Amino acid sequence: MKTIAVTLNSVGGPVQVETLDLSEPLDGEVLVKMGAAGICHSDQHAITGQHGAEIPCVLGHEGAGEVVAVGPNVKKIRIGDRVALNWVPSCGVCFYCIREQQHLCSDGTERIWSGLLADGTSRISRNGQPILHYCGISTWSEHMVVAEVSCKRIPDAVPYEVAALIGCGVATGVGASVHRGQLSEGDTVVVVGAGGVGLSAVMGANMAGAKRIIAVDRAASKKNLSINLGATHFVTADDRAIDEVLNLTEGRGADVVIEAIGNTALQESWLRAVRPGGTMVLVGVPSTSDSTSFISADLIRSEKTIKGSYYAAADTGQAIDDLCAAYLQGRLPVDRLISKRVAIQDIQLAIDAMLTGAEGRTVIAFD
Ligand SMILES: NC(=O)c1ccc[n+]([C@@H]2O[C@H](COP(=O)([O-])OP(=O)(O)OC[C@H]3O[C@@H](n4cnc5c(N)ncnc54)[C@H](O)[C@@H]3O)[C@@H](O)[C@H]2O)c1
Ligand SMILES: [Zn+2]
Ligand SMILES: [Zn+2]
Repeated sequence: MKTIAVTLNSVGGPVQVETLDLSEPLDGEVLVKMGAAGICHSDQHAITGQHGAEIPCVLGHEGAGEVVAVGPNVKKIRIGDRVALNWVPSCGVCFYCIREQQHLCSDGTERIWSGLLADGTSRISRNGQPILHYCGISTWSEHMVVAEVSCKRIPDAVPYEVAALIGCGVATGVGASVHRGQLSEGDTVVVVGAGGVGLSAVMGANMAGAKRIIAVDRAASKKNLSINLGATHFVTADDRAIDEVLNLTEGRGADVVIEAIGNTALQESWLRAVRPGGTMVLVGVPSTSDSTSFISADLIRSEKTIKGSYYAAADTGQAIDDLCAAYLQGRLPVDRLISKRVAIQDIQLAIDAMLTGAEGRTVIAFD
């Protein structure tokens, strides 16, 4: 069959909207008709080459839709199921999966970066030339063949656009707050970068009962959105921002600072806003060739902890279930995060909008 999809054909972009060939799902695979797909900054990192994706590929790693065909040996998913797509499905048996670190699953991780499905081939092509599956799920496409294990069934009442965002940005931000920041009632947290991931960290902090949730962004227009999603304070990112946060925290600093941009200078400078004994969570991802430096004596003497945080920072399949439930209970207002909807043909407008910093999350809405 044919599908209209967004491809990356050369590092640096731009992306292209093309009609491609999609072959039938094979063993353990299903065909998904995409309902919605999100634009995450990690797609932009792939475009610029900061994260190095295998190309040519179909981009996109936030998506949800309806299963419209299944291949042989598909066990749990059926035609008609509404599913969210998970870019690190867990194998259940590797070193990490049996230690409850399923998001680090060696099997799942290998698959994401290869751009190939489990049998080592691709279902997408252009004039007979294979095109790769970015993150194994290539959601910026009207239809896509994915592994059954990448599909997580979702309740009927969860809109596709909400489920799509839960599939990366929301799971990642909430994971950074709840699992890596281990926020609990009464805590103070600073979230540096109020984009899709940072605002989801704000929602996660709110769910965890944090008392003070300080969002920081250079786009002053993010103030209303941050407060609307649960922030108690908003600080504009300028030279005085860290001092302002110290003033708000009795001069001590916050229990947890979450860097949700991926800027090494900010990772370095915002360590000053972590209180002694507190934690800095790095969830924004800089270029893979950048390094960040800290004065280790300061870390030692003030017993600060620096942690990375990847995807849901827990079993992502389970996280999708839990976050859908939290959305339905009104505890996770993901729909307020969505600030713009575009057709797939307007993907460049959506990417440009994200780069202004003014949007919450933009989604591609499919017919
Ligand atoms: N750890 C993971 O598993 C994981 C998963 C998804 C995304 N990410 C990463 O998280 C980061 C954020 O992704 P996103 O989709 O939320 O991005 P986004 O573009 O939606 O948001 C980024 C926000 O940062 C703000 N910003 C940028 N530079 C700034 C600066 N110098 N000072 C203050 N604010 C600034 C922008 O205004 C914007 O609001 C990216 O690096 C992305 O690759 C990591
Ligand atoms: Zn993402
Ligand atoms: Zn595993």
